[in-house]
Amino acid sequence: MKNAYLQIEQSLELSGDVSLVGAKNAVLVIMSSLLLTSGKSRLKNVPASADVLHMIRLLEELGAQVTFVQDEHILEIDTLGVNKWQVNPDIMKKMRASILVMGPLLARFGRADIAMPGGCVLGARPIDYHLKNFAKMGVKIQEEGHFLHAQVDELIPGKIVLEYPSVGATENIMMAAALVKGTTRIINAALEPELLDLIAVLKKMGAQITIDPPAMLVIDGVDELLPITHEIISDRLEAGSLLLAAAITGGEVNLPQAPAYALDVFLLKLEEMGHSITVGKNDVGIHLKATDSPHAVSFKTGPYPGFPTDLQAPMMALQCLAEGTSTIEETVFENRLVHAHELQKMGAQINVEGNKALVTGVEELYGAHVIASDIRASCALVLAGLVAKGTTIMTGIPHWQRGYEALEKKLAALGANIRLHAQVNRHLKFLHREGEMPTQDV
Ligand code: EPZ
Repeated sequence: MKNAYLQIEQSLELSGDVSLVGAKNAVLVIMSSLLLTSGKSRLKNVPASADVLHMIRLLEELGAQVTFVQDEHILEIDTLGVNKWQVNPDIMKKMRASILVMGPLLARFGRADIAMPGGCVLGARPIDYHLKNFAKMGVKIQEEGHFLHAQVDELIPGKIVLEYPSVGATENIMMAAALVKGTTRIINAALEPELLDLIAVLKKMGAQITIDPPAMLVIDGVDELLPITHEIISDRLEAGSLLLAAAITGGEVNLPQAPAYALDVFLLKLEEMGHSITVGKNDVGIHLKATDSPHAVSFKTGPYPGFPTDLQAPMMALQCLAEGTSTIEETVFENRLVHAHELQKMGAQINVEGNKALVTGVEELYGAHVIASDIRASCALVLAGLVAKGTTIMTGIPHWQRGYEALEKKLAALGANIRLHAQVNRHLKFLHREGEMPTQDV
């Protein structure tokens, strides 16, 4: 949304019950996995975030028929008519997750033409683990400028060893292997909850996949995969952001659908700060009551089940006002501390050295004009704005909307004084129902 901004005023003690949408990082890869089948599938609990709309457009351009009933979060995708393997480079630039159609296209057509996704503010973000291992499966990859032309007569099963448990590479290889005759094993695989939801979908489609300790995926290829109906898991990252909003404002929030089982280390750190956390039956549902004297805690991000890198920035915002100092170590992405600079504009005391940030708690923050550099940074700045004295203006709204479905509305329902000022971009106008044009108070 061009020229859009969020205006945030100090809002204390956010409180109430909130329902969650489905996980962005599950639904995007699940949508691409539907290229492995031909026919109509139905996905429920689908967030109406900008990335989902980008993926819809990508699939439509490959020939899929898509219907999205946003109010009901229901998405129907018919892949019977998919007849192309060239991915629109503009969408590739907008959304790195587009790379996740490469495995399914190779399995379906033996071909995939994509543009190199390129880096983003988080770092170089190469795709070498994807390409190296596709080559191990017999794929010939020809580079032409920014474009990659991948081609294979028949994918080969075998042993794939990942030097790092990359989420995207694990997902891409696994999807490519699902229809390959024989057994493919992925060693040192990622096991993020969103990836486990993808495995649940693939198994529903008829795939043969098992998870062997410590982190090996065994995929026995099948001849055919069938369309499915599936409910996307609730978004642990949206849950984390809402818990942090209540914690930073000294409030109390209840998230009945929150996947506590997927947030253990994060919840441990919130408890160490002094916040009171209650978890529901079967580890589903989280209630948080904030302490009024939070202690600073240190943490280090890592692959699941470690502390999620996608909650590092919002958790940093909390440390800015906690008593004491916190050392934050970002180990997943080499350049994911950019938000520290924007928090400093609001009066935070943060010293960044390499992939570490030392945060010294201060009495208060002040409103300022801040710029969101990526999805999770936008959340950190909104949280800081909720407790800062005066007005905070945040730009970089496309990041906020890529990752969250109108999260500002949920925060407002909890008592936040937050307002989206925007001019509608013609591509995203159906994000807003008639009469809800973004000049209104949220
Ligand atoms: C997924 O990205 C998520 N995106 C990210 O969420 C998340 O931060 C990340 O996993 C880690 O949990 C989606 O699921 C769409 P990786 P992905 O491959 O798959 C390096 C958000 O905010 N690497 O696990 O791209 C890479 O550069 C986003 O929602 C290579 O070097 O992450 C990074 O440093 C941001 N070569 C590390 O591995 C490769 O071929 C982890 O990346 C692949 C990755």
